[in-house]
This record gives sequence, structure tokens and C-alpha cells, in this order.
Amino acid sequence: MSTNLPRCAVIGAGSSGITALKALRDAGLDAVAFEASDRVGGNWVLGNRNGMSSAYEGLHINTSRERMEYTDFPMPKSYPDFPHHSQIAAYFDDYVDHFGLRPLIRFETRVERAERGPQGGWALTLGDGSVERFDALLVANGHHWDPRWPEPPFPGSDTFAGVQMHAHDYRSDEVLRDKDVVVLGMGNSAMDIAVESSYVARSTVLAARRGAWILPKHILGRPMDQLLKNDPRVPFAIRSRLMELIVRLVAGPPERYGLPKPDHRFGQAHPTVSGRILDRIGHGTITPKPNIARLEGDRVVFVDGTSVRADVVVYCTGYRITFPFFDEDLISAPDNRIELFRHVFHPDLDDVFFVGLLQPLGAIMPLAEEQGRWIADHLTGQYALPPRPEMRADIERELRAMRKRYVTSKRHTIQVDFEDYLHGIEQERRAGAQRARAAGFPLPVPRRTEVVAA
Ligand SMILES: Cc1cc2nc3c(=O)[nH]c(=O)nc-3n(C[C@H](O)[C@H](O)[C@H](O)COP(=O)(O)OP(=O)(O)OC[C@H]3O[C@@H](n4cnc5c(N)ncnc54)[C@H](O)[C@@H]3O)c2cc1C
Ligand SMILES: NC(=O)c1ccc[n+]([C@@H]2O[C@H](COP(=O)([O-])OP(=O)(O)OC[C@H]3O[C@@H](n4cnc5c(N)ncnc54)[C@H](OP(=O)(O)O)[C@@H]3O)[C@@H](O)[C@H]2O)c1
Repeated sequence: MSTNLPRCAVIGAGSSGITALKALRDAGLDAVAFEASDRVGGNWVLGNRNGMSSAYEGLHINTSRERMEYTDFPMPKSYPDFPHHSQIAAYFDDYVDHFGLRPLIRFETRVERAERGPQGGWALTLGDGSVERFDALLVANGHHWDPRWPEPPFPGSDTFAGVQMHAHDYRSDEVLRDKDVVVLGMGNSAMDIAVESSYVARSTVLAARRGAWILPKHILGRPMDQLLKNDPRVPFAIRSRLMELIVRLVAGPPERYGLPKPDHRFGQAHPTVSGRILDRIGHGTITPKPNIARLEGDRVVFVDGTSVRADVVVYCTGYRITFPFFDEDLISAPDNRIELFRHVFHPDLDDVFFVGLLQPLGAIMPLAEEQGRWIADHLTGQYALPPRPEMRADIERELRAMRKRYVTSKRHTIQVDFEDYLHGIEQERRAGAQRARAAGFPLPVPRRTEVVAA
């Protein structure tokens, strides 16, 4: 290990943190990951003792196995196209053991504070009060654990007679058994929970403020994300029309099922995937409604003036991006907005990097894997960033494009298309390698921390 390379800390050993850790280790960097839980896998560990997992008993992935696996560690062929969460958690465990990463992870060690020194470098305050210093910090703390409740709360929610819960706290259908249930939202949590409710509840209503194009999990017998890979060379407008046509052919328009008509074209909202929701609506076991207007006693009143009695309201209203360990003035994401160069590099701070902080049309894991390799290249001097004004212009360009394409929502602030993003990174890494070579491969983050003999 070269002693002038920076010492790196990774916050989090979920699927993003473990692959970044591997990339750092493989590049010869001295790296350690801090993990609040007693195990890896983050969100995919049902009932994770970190209290941060949003997984429920019936959860299966909605990006297919081949889309989600790391490039150098295929999921077992015995796995189905859309494995159960327990299989996904086991896969991440196996990844860590296969590549010998476990000794590099400090389990049951929460990073409470991450403070940047005046000359750079990071002091991490850990759960036991001790402080450790690092030259570079990788943030992989996940972005689907801090529930976003309806903002502002619905009138009457403070006096509602029933139970109000967020999807983050939903673990199994037991809480819905024999109840009158209202599920709010049109994202993937709402689809899954409404479907589960439809089998056990007395009644299930699916309320939404906006319609969605609902993709089935399979098309022509293949996982839809295997069949409909995006070609970065094909303009978005054409891809979008093609997908919409396929959805219309397979399922018909959503309004045919009583759901709100989407106010956007396919691809202008994060994809909603469900092979079962339309079927359950078609069977009369789920009743679509527009948005909630207010809660009154034990009733939920919708914006069309209709109302239902409800025992449970499940808010599937998404998540907030938060970094509880940073000083908010230094790094935060108000309304889920955070400006990073290609979702990884901070344009003003040269020693902090983000992994997995994106919402892909496709799975997060192979993208996090590539981000980890990119950061490792950078920290070892093999990749040099463009000048700051160029990074800022690039960020602006991307934000403009995202705002233009996506419907306005706090859920659409870190969207990327899987293939386009990978293609973009590949090109940028090539350009940055040339910059690095021209400059004589300088190390962007100097080693300031003491070198501990191995
Ligand atoms: C219900 C649900 C289903 C999903 N399904 C899919 C899917 O099918 N496909 C897909 O690609 N994505 C899916 N996602 C998105 C999900 O974010 C990713 O699958 C994946 O969990 C992201 O991994 P991560 O490592 O970035 O975050 P996480 O899995 O959240 O892991 C973060 C880790 O960081 C640790 N941590 C956080 N803060 C600290 C701290 N301060 N100190 C120490 N450790 C800390 C946590 O303990 C945790 O282990 C789903 C999300 C949800 C909520
Ligand atoms: N593997 C799986 O099967 C699975 C299951 C669950 C979740 N996930 C993933 O987990 C992530 C989070 O998904 P999610 O469904 O929990 O959240 P989400 O994608 O952010 O969806 C939130 C939904 O709530 C609506 N909403 C937000 N605030 C509202 C309000 N005040 N009133 C009415 N509606 C409101 C949003 O509508 P607008 O669009 O109008 O903002 C949207 O329909 C996604 O990446 C998703 O793919 C995957």
C-alpha cells in the first residue's frame, strides 16, 4: 500500500458502501467502512437493527436480478428473475465474504458527526464518542430510510381516529388484516402495499394525486428491464413513446382501471412497476380514488368529495435525503436537492464523495460499483476532475435537463437513466484520465493522517 495515498472512510455498508469499499481496497487505498448495523445490506435486511430498513416481508426486487447484480459477482442462477429481499440480503453478505471485505467493516459503529478540518480532511465522531481522522470521506448512507410524510399534513390528521403510518414502518400485512385501509401514493411502495392489503384487508383504497404509467415485471416472458434496455444513442422522446406504446398494448391506459390519467409521458416520472396492481383493481379488491382532501374522525375524504371509513392510512409518500452527521450549512439536501458533479463529486469540497445517491431507471448497484471505481481512480491520481467552472456548468446542464423532463416532485431530484449514466461516466473517466496524464498524475487529496503499519 502506497503511504502517500489518502486514508478513506466509507459511511455505510449497504449495497453502495460495500462495492465502494471494494474499489478502494482494490486500488491499494487504506479504507474502512463504518456500519451502524451488525450486518451489511442496509435496506435489504428486514427489521435491520439500525432501524433504517424499509423492507417488508413480501418485498421482492423490481429491477431484475441481472440488472441488479454487480458486474464481477453474478447472482446465483437459481435465483428467480425478481428475488425475495432475503435472497438479496444474502447476496450482499456473500459478496462481502467472497471479496474478503468483512475485516474492513466496523460493525455497530454509527458515524454521529463528520467534521471537515479547515485544510480539509475529516474528523469522524463515532457512536462510542471516539474520534477518528481520515483524508477522504465516501458517503453511502442510503436515501430511502428517512420517511417523507405528506407536506403539509392533511387537515384532520391530528384528530384522525385510526392509525396513520408511513410505508417505511410497514413490515407485514398483519397490520392491515380485516381493516379498512387507505394507501396513498403511486410509487412502488404504494403498489406493493395496496396489493398486499387487497388479500387481507376488509377494504382497500388506493388514493393518488397523480397518475402513473405502470410497467409489468415481465414482457414477452422476459424481465421488462432486460427487454427494454435503453440505447443512449436513441433520443429520449423516441424511447419514451416506444415504452408508452408497449405499456398501452400490454395493459391499456391506466384510466381504464379507474386510476388517474397520467399527466405526463412515459419516462417523465420514476417508473412504477407492478405485475399485480391492475389485476387486483380489475378484481374489485382495490378501489382507486383521487388524492386525500382531509381526515374527519374515522373517515378519509377525497378531493372529489367522496369519503370512506378507514382504520389505517398508509402514506407511501417517499423519502427525504438526509445526512444527519454533516453540519447542515456544509452539506445538506433541502427538498431532496443536492448539487454534485455526476452525482458523485462535490463541486467545492475535494475530499468528499457520494455513492449510490441516485434514482436510476434501472438498479442502483452496478452504478454504485462504477462510481466506487471512479472515485478510487481519482484518489490514486488516475482520473482528474474538470475545472470547477466546468463542473458547475455540467451540474447546471443536468439539473436543467432533469427539470425539463420530469414532472415537478421531490422524488425527481436525482434521476438518471441506467445506460446513459454508465455511458456518461465511461466518457468522463476517459477524458479525466487524459487530464491526469497531462498533469503528471497528481494526487487530488493529500495524505495527512498518520500511516499505521499493517
Ligand atoms: C422498499 C424498497 C425497495 C427497493 N427496491 C429496489 C430495487 O428493486 N432495485 C433497486 O435498485 N433499488 C431498490 N430500492 C432502492 C434502495 O435504495 C437500494 O436498493 C439500496 O438499498 C441502496 O443501497 P445503499 O447502500 O445506497 O443504501 P442502504 O441500503 O440504505 O444502506 C445504507 C447503509 O448505511 C448505514 N448507515 C447509514 N447512516 C450511517 C451512519 N451515520 N453511520 C454508520 N452507518 C450508517 C446503514 O446502516 C445501512 O447499512 C428500494 C428501496 C426501497 C425503500
Ligand atoms: N422493489 C420494489 O418492489 C420496491 C417497492 C417499494 C419501493 N421501491 C423503491 O423505493 C423507492 C421509494 O419508493 P416509494 O414508492 O416509497 O416513494 P416514491 O417513489 O417517492 O413515491 C412517492 C409517491 O407519493 C406521492 N406523494 C408524495 N407526497 C404526497 C402528498 N403530500 N400527497 C399525495 N401524494 C404524495 C408521490 O406523488 P408525486 O409523483 O406527485 O410526487 C408518489 O406517487 C423507489 O426507488 C422505489 O422504486 C421498490
